[in-house]
Amino acid sequence: MDYLDPALPVADRVADLLARMTLAEKVGQMMQLSAPDGLKEQVLEKHVGSILHPTPELVAEAHDLTEQTRLRIPLLVGEDAIHGHSFCDGATIFPTQLGMAATWSPGLVERMARATAVEAAATGLHWTFSPVLCVARDLRWGRVNETFGEDPFLIGELGSAAVRGYQGNGLADPTAVLATAKHFAGYSETQGGRDASEADLSPRKLRSWFLPPFERVAREGCGTFMLGYQTIDGVPITVNDWLLTDVLRGEWGYTGMLVTDWDNVGRMVWEQQVQPDHVHASAAAVRAGNDMIMTTAGFFEGAQEAVARGLIAESDLDAAVSRILALKFELGLFEDPRRPDPATMAAVIGSHQDLNLELTRRSLVLLRNSGVLPLGGGTTDGPADDRPLRVAVVGPLADDPQTQLGDWAGSSGQVAWMAHGQPRDMITTVLDGLRDGVPAGWTVTYSPGSAILTHEDDPEGPYFPDGQPRPQVVAPAPVDPEQLAAAVSAAREADVVVAVVGDRIELVGEGTSTATLELLGGQVALLEAVAATGTPLVVVLQASKPMVLPPAALGADALVWTAHPGMTGGRALADLLLGRIEPSGRLPISFARHVGQQPIYYNQVRGQHGVRYADLTQDPAFAFGEGLSYTTVEYADLVVDTPEVTAADAVRAHVTVTNTGARPALETVQVYVRDLVTSASWADRELKAFTQVELAPGASVRVPLTLPAADCSIVDAAGRRVVEPGGFELLVGPSSRPRDLLRAGFQVVTGAAS
Ligand code: NOJ
Repeated sequence: MDYLDPALPVADRVADLLARMTLAEKVGQMMQLSAPDGLKEQVLEKHVGSILHPTPELVAEAHDLTEQTRLRIPLLVGEDAIHGHSFCDGATIFPTQLGMAATWSPGLVERMARATAVEAAATGLHWTFSPVLCVARDLRWGRVNETFGEDPFLIGELGSAAVRGYQGNGLADPTAVLATAKHFAGYSETQGGRDASEADLSPRKLRSWFLPPFERVAREGCGTFMLGYQTIDGVPITVNDWLLTDVLRGEWGYTGMLVTDWDNVGRMVWEQQVQPDHVHASAAAVRAGNDMIMTTAGFFEGAQEAVARGLIAESDLDAAVSRILALKFELGLFEDPRRPDPATMAAVIGSHQDLNLELTRRSLVLLRNSGVLPLGGGTTDGPADDRPLRVAVVGPLADDPQTQLGDWAGSSGQVAWMAHGQPRDMITTVLDGLRDGVPAGWTVTYSPGSAILTHEDDPEGPYFPDGQPRPQVVAPAPVDPEQLAAAVSAAREADVVVAVVGDRIELVGEGTSTATLELLGGQVALLEAVAATGTPLVVVLQASKPMVLPPAALGADALVWTAHPGMTGGRALADLLLGRIEPSGRLPISFARHVGQQPIYYNQVRGQHGVRYADLTQDPAFAFGEGLSYTTVEYADLVVDTPEVTAADAVRAHVTVTNTGARPALETVQVYVRDLVTSASWADRELKAFTQVELAPGASVRVPLTLPAADCSIVDAAGRRVVEPGGFELLVGPSSRPRDLLRAGFQVVTGAAS
C-alpha cells in the first residue's frame, strides 16, 4: 500500500490513500469529536479524523482503536493548551493571554509557547487551539482574557511569536504542535458584549483592524485556522465565502487546515436558524471549504445524506480530506502517532515554573503609586527601612489558588476530569507569596473581608439545546458585616493593607459575558471600609479583564493590575510589592471609568461632535500602553532622521530616554503614527513599533526607532490598504495617551527615495 511508504512524496501518499477511502471514511476524516463522549463509536463507527479534550489515557486508547480500523489512519489529537497545558494535571499554567500581552514581549510569549508545546507533545497532543487573535474592543465580552488585548499590531507581534513557539522547528519535530489562529474573524466584535452575537463588521472594517493579525500568521505558516461562531452581515463565518475563499485562501494563499468552532455546523440549524437541518448545514459547510468539523456528530449522517441527495458530490470532500491527510503525513503520524510517553511526561510536565515566574513578573502592571510601594523601600537586598511592617492582607482573592489560574485551566469547567483543579502545592497565592517573602520580623495577617458572588440556576434550565451544560447565573454576594468588621480591625492594626480584589471564573469565559464591569459583592464596601481606617492601602486588582474601579481603588496609595496570573502569580506579586523586582508591565488594553464608555480602545476613528459625553468624560481610567515603574523615565529630543520617505523606505528616528530616578527600569518605548489627512476617516493614531530598553538609575540612552513606511497605511473607502502620500507624525512615548507622546513630522512622497 503506497500510502504507508514514507519514502514517497506526501502528495502521492495522499492520492493513494484518498482513492481507497469510502464516502463514510471521508466524512469521518473531516470530523473531530470530544474524546470523553464515546471514543469507541467515534473511531470504529464514525471513522473520526480527530479527537479533542482527551486525557493521556484516552489518547492511548484512541490509538489502540485506530489500529483496529481498516486503513489505520492515525488520529489528530487536539486540545486547548492555551496558557500552558491547561487540562493536564501538574502542567505549568502561565498567566492568561491578556496577562502575557502585558509583558509586551514576543520573546517571552514564544518561550511560553515552546514550553507548552514540549509539555503538550509529551502527552500525545499534536495540535493546540491557540493563539487567540481577536481584537478585544468590548470589555463586557467574557473572553477578553483570552486575547492579546485591543491593538492589532501588538496582537500580530505576540500572535506570531506564539505560533513560532508552538510549531518549533517544523512539524517533523516531535515537540512541535500545530498552532491555531482563532477565531477567524471578528468574533470579538459582539453586540453589547453578548458572546457570539452578530458582528456588525463591514469588509473595510475587517481589513482595517480585525484581519491584519490573521494575515500575518497565515503568511507565516500557522498550521490551522479556527472559524468564529458568529454571523457577519447575516452570514455565519462557517459559510462565509468571501472570508474563507477570496481572502484567506485566495489573497493570502493560505494552504493550512480550517477547523470550525464547537458545533458551528449544528449551530446554523439550532442557534442561528439559517439552515433547515444537518443535511443542508453539512452540505453548506463542505461547499464553503471547511476541512475539520468540530463536535457536530450529525455531520456524519448529514454529509452522507447530502451526497445521496445530490446537494454535494463525494468529490467535494476530497480537498478537505486531502489537506487533513497531508498534515498527518507531514507530522509523520503514519510512522509514529506520537503516543503519550510516560518517561517524557514525568520529565517535562510542570517543569517550566522558572520561565513562568519570569513571564508573570513581567506581566504585572503598576497603575498608581504614591510611594507606598515597594513596601519598606524594599530592594533585592531587603527593605531599606529597619522598622518591621505589619501587613494586613484582605480581599476574597488573596488566597484563591484555582481562581488565579484563570479560564481554560484545571477546574475552569471545560473538562470533567479536573474538577479538583491543578495541584495546590504548585500554586502560590498573594497570601502565600507575602507570608513566604516578607523580611524577618514582619507580620502578615489575613482576613477575606467579603465574598464576590453566589450562584443561582439559569431560569432557562440547566442545559443548552445541544446538551452542553448551561452556566449558572451569578448573584452578587451581600456584604457580610462580621467579615467586614474583621478586615477593618486587621487594617487598623497594620502598617499597610494589601487588598486583593477582582473577578471570578463565573464572570469569565464563553457564554459568560458581563453587563457590568464593577467589582461585585462586598468588594467595594471592603475597599471603602479599609481605606477609611487611614492605613495605607495597596490594591491588587486580580481581574480577567479591565474593570470599572471605585474611588477607593482609584485613589488608593497603590494599585497593581494582574490578569489571572497563573501558578506563580502570588510569588511574582509579592516580589513586586516587596521591591525584589521592578514593575515593567504595560496595559495591552484600556480601562474604562464606566461601562457606558464602551468602546474605550485608544485607536478610535476621528470625527465626532466634541470629545466627551454630557455627563462623563470619554477619557479612559487607564489607557493602552500605560504602566509605571518604581523610578521615573523621561523622553526627549525625538528626531526623525528621514523627514521624507517613499512607501518603499523605512522611517528612522531617535529619541532619548533617561532614567531620572533611583531604581532601574525596563522601559517600553512605544511608537505610534498619525496620518494627518486621510482619504477616508481613520484612527487618530496607531501603534506601529515598540522596543524595550533597560535603564540603570541615571542612565540616558539614545534609542533608535525604525518602521517600514509601508506600515503607515490606511484602508481606503474602496477597501484597499494603501499608503497615502502626505504629512505624518511620529508619536513616541510611554503610553498611547496624547499627553505622554513626543511628536515629530515626516512626509511620505511618491517616486524615488530621497
Ligand atoms: C470553543 C471555543 O470557542 C474555542 O476557542 C475552543 O478552542 C473550542 N471550543 C475547543 O475547546
